[in-house]
Amino acid sequence: MMLKLFIFIALCVSLTITQDISLPTSVKTCKRNSDDYSSCLRLAIQESWPLFVQGIPALNMPPLDPLSTDFMMNDFNFDGVSGKFVVRNAKSYGLARTRFLSVRPAHAGARFKLEIDMEIPTIFVEGGFKSDGKVGSFNVVATKGHFNISMEDLRATLKLEGPVVNDRWEVQTFSFMPEVGKMKIWASDLFNGNEELNKAALTFINEFWKVLYEGMLPTVSKTWNNYWRDFVNEYIFSKISFSKTFP
Ligand SMILES: *[C@@H]1O[C@H](CO)[C@@H](O)[C@H](O)[C@H]1NC(C)=O
Repeated sequence: MMLKLFIFIALCVSLTITQDISLPTSVKTCKRNSDDYSSCLRLAIQESWPLFVQGIPALNMPPLDPLSTDFMMNDFNFDGVSGKFVVRNAKSYGLARTRFLSVRPAHAGARFKLEIDMEIPTIFVEGGFKSDGKVGSFNVVATKGHFNISMEDLRATLKLEGPVVNDRWEVQTFSFMPEVGKMKIWASDLFNGNEELNKAALTFINEFWKVLYEGMLPTVSKTWNNYWRDFVNEYIFSKISFSKTFP
């Protein structure tokens, strides 16, 4: 009896998993053979963005603004300074105000690519961190604390690309490497209690943030791009029919 019940429940669960879950009906779709396919997609994304920002319970998708990041580990290596930077319990604010400027879709055989030009006026991130730094082979700092970063005028071309398999888009490449117009960084304690050093380091970081950001971008963006690739696959594209979403 129990076994039958268990099998029944397991069947129901697996059925719901393999079934198509639709995007909310207010998300409009665009016909790929239409003349205005690109501008239609841009408008569809811009108009439905508030829905994605709230999170979509039917897809189990969490909200994007504020966006919670429980854990993210970054390795950095810059001019002989290397280390690990772990972000914990961070919240990011600002994605709600994303503006989508243009969208370039490309269907090529069984692969699909989207390039999306976007602007985000401000992003504010705050949370906890733990870091471990090295200069050459010397450990110089192992510390933890709180941080916040405010950024303005972010611009990027977001690229998503991958094959369509069994009517699901499998995003293999997710690339988001924004240019940032302005950045201000604050951290409670970068040198394990040494306030003078912390102040000096923050002054230095805020003066040279542009060089530091550009230097760290290739490694740090790998971490968030992998994170976002898994995010869009898990919460969106593995659940919705490709042919119905991009008819
Ligand atoms: C970041 O945190 C510090 C310390 O709590 C605070 O003084 C500062 O105003 C914060 N930055 C922003 C942009 O809120």
